[in-house]
Amino acid sequence: MTNTILVLGATGNVGSQVVKGLVEAGANVRAAVRSLQKAAALKSDKVSLAEFDTEKPETFDTTFADVEKVFLITTLIPNLVEVQTNLVAAAKKAGVKHIVKLSGMGAEIEPGVTMTRWHRAVEKAIEASGMSYTFVRPNGFMQNYSNFSGQTIKAQNAFYLPMGDGKVSHIDVRDIASVAAVALTQDGHAGKAYEVTGPTAISNAEIAEIISTVVGRKIDSVDVPEDTARQEMQKSGMPDSLVDANLELYGIYKAGYAAEVTSVVEQVTGKKAISFEQFAQDSVAAFK
Ligand SMILES: NC(=O)c1ccc[n+]([C@@H]2O[C@H](COP(=O)([O-])OP(=O)(O)OC[C@H]3O[C@@H](n4cnc5c(N)ncnc54)[C@H](OP(=O)(O)O)[C@@H]3O)[C@@H](O)[C@H]2O)c1
Repeated sequence: MTNTILVLGATGNVGSQVVKGLVEAGANVRAAVRSLQKAAALKSDKVSLAEFDTEKPETFDTTFADVEKVFLITTLIPNLVEVQTNLVAAAKKAGVKHIVKLSGMGAEIEPGVTMTRWHRAVEKAIEASGMSYTFVRPNGFMQNYSNFSGQTIKAQNAFYLPMGDGKVSHIDVRDIASVAAVALTQDGHAGKAYEVTGPTAISNAEIAEIISTVVGRKIDSVDVPEDTARQEMQKSGMPDSLVDANLELYGIYKAGYAAEVTSVVEQVTGKKAISFEQFAQDSVAAFK
């Protein structure tokens, strides 16, 4: 057993930042990637690469071999529970000691919504595995606005979401990764579930104002009906189960149920949570 920390989704939004945080903390990282070629830039004296695909179980043994801790994440997929439960089993089989799982805010609420139920089911599999764990349960990512709304902000000076004036305490993925990196490298985080949020709850109208200020032109937030949002997601090729799960979550946002602000980021990392203003400035290229 080495002191290697395995990071899944290492080229993704959160995973790439977790790799960065672990390297800064001086850890030895194994980054699990689908394409060694595409991820070559990640490699360094502290970061090795493992070729890994959740759809190819034959890649699991080498990916998890001799790993002490794992950052567990997959992209949002309809079979998330099945895929992540298989990864928990692979970690257990390999003798992994501690798992930090990227979950979702509200996972402890039963019955919750589809996405949090999925994450809670995986959390339960981890609890039952006997491995030590930390659950990191973030609210919606600020980066959803650069990754998904950036295109229409650029092209039409507007973004379209079925969220009314619901306020959400969106979090920057860099803060999620900082919390995860601490849980992976420092003692005292075993058995904890961290609900992580940004520093304030804000509406889409307020977000439109912030982005307008940062880009220097007027950006509008458009509250679209659920049917319109459904059609747009379907047009993008999203599977129906994910369309339904997303609409359910937007309903929660609209009703104001995702507005809770926690101080976990500061408590765990010692740094204040990143504001939406800071995120927007740092992501200005996605909106210009
Ligand atoms: N967005 C939100 O607001 C939000 C809020 C709370 C929780 N979450 C949770 O966050 C998770 C998503 O995090 P994220 O945005 O960081 O993910 P992401 O950026 O979508 O992650 C993509 C990563 O997964 C890898 N990947 C995709 N398919 C794979 C496969 N078949 N095998 C192995 N790796 C594969 C990608 O590798 P390649 O580079 O090879 O494509 C990439 O590294 C989801 O579980 C979601 O439920 C999201």
